[in-house]
Amino acid sequence: MTEPDLKLGELNATPKWFRRVTIGLLVSLFLTVFFGAITTTIGAGMAFPDWPTSDGENMILYNWFSVFGEDKFWEHGHRLAATTTGILSIALVIGAWVTDRRRWIFGIAVAILLGVSFQGILGGFRVLENNVNWAIVHGSFAPLVASLIMIIVFVTGRRYRQTAVEQASNAKIGKNKLFAYLTAGSLYIQYILGCFLRHKGTAVHEHLGFAAISTVLVLITLFVAIRSNCRIIKGSGFHLFGVLLIQLLFGLGAWITRFSLPSVIDYVPVVESPEQVFMRTAHMIMGMLLFMSAVLHVVKVKRIDWLQKHIDATTPAGS
Ligand code: HEM
Ligand code: HEM
Repeated sequence: MTEPDLKLGELNATPKWFRRVTIGLLVSLFLTVFFGAITTTIGAGMAFPDWPTSDGENMILYNWFSVFGEDKFWEHGHRLAATTTGILSIALVIGAWVTDRRRWIFGIAVAILLGVSFQGILGGFRVLENNVNWAIVHGSFAPLVASLIMIIVFVTGRRYRQTAVEQASNAKIGKNKLFAYLTAGSLYIQYILGCFLRHKGTAVHEHLGFAAISTVLVLITLFVAIRSNCRIIKGSGFHLFGVLLIQLLFGLGAWITRFSLPSVIDYVPVVESPEQVFMRTAHMIMGMLLFMSAVLHVVKVKRIDWLQKHIDATTPAGS
């Protein structure tokens, strides 16, 4: 791969088909996460005792619709979606190699393939070992893989190439970088604590405490983003804040439908009631989206910061 001289912000467009692979990968990832989340919510993690076979059958040939609506349907759907994600990750690496001239994009593609493969092996371990601790490790690793996929979708997009340059010259980065990192770090810890709460019912106080810390950090991130004088950073800060608000509501919903909240609402939780399945699943998925948004915020701030330092310079593509 050669790296031609390209002026900042004038990176050649990513070929349409490669862009479609990145978006297809993101969609497939969400399907995988959705099926995985339902699997956990309804306690179907051990619907099959084996892996990579499903009830002794080749996973691809297994008659998925014969178990429609049952526990096996969700767990097997998760496996099929994960397999699609794996295949698309291979296509991504090949695509990055033959099309994109930014070497680091190829690096991210390889990291995604390794991450998705590792994630799959962790899922397999959870089943073969019949051990919920592996489910926690599997659950905690997922947002890292998801964020890498989000990053590649972002950096191969038109916006990344074009908009940032005009925005960068007047931006005031200040503490934006620091708080972007702190928020992403705090949300990741919060995510792991959520995994403990979800799978083992432990770390309740820690999860609530970190929700407060994460909320304060997101608010500070929003505050410094508003003062950044940069539309991209500001927009990203508001986006993060909006997702946090929804997440807090779903957190409350997950709490009420799982543990009840007698002092506030007269409601008796019912295991696997539609509202409980919805709230618990939505809170998990929104937690992932929130973490992904925080990582994207880091990338955006870093991009603007980098552009500012290199403005008017001719550099290798997409450094
Ligand atoms: C792209 C690959 C994969 C991703 C991104 C992924 C992601 C996830 C996520 C987000 C959850 C929900 C965790 C939670 O709600 O706390 C989950 C659950 C689960 N995943 Fe995966 N997964 C992948 C591959 C696999 C594979 C190949 C298997 C093999 C069997 C697997 C088995 C499971 C099981 C059994 C659960 C339920 C765990 C439990 O609640 O006990 N996963 N996965
Ligand atoms: C910054 C805010 C929050 C974030 C990012 C967050 C994130 C998460 C995540 C990602 C999970 C599931 C992890 C997994 O297994 O994959 C979880 C579980 C949980 N969280 Fe939160 N959470 C937040 C705030 C809250 C709040 C304020 C409450 C309660 C009022 C709450 C209550 C719960 C409950 C009850 C569970 C377990 C749900 C279940 O059993 O399925 N969370 N949280």
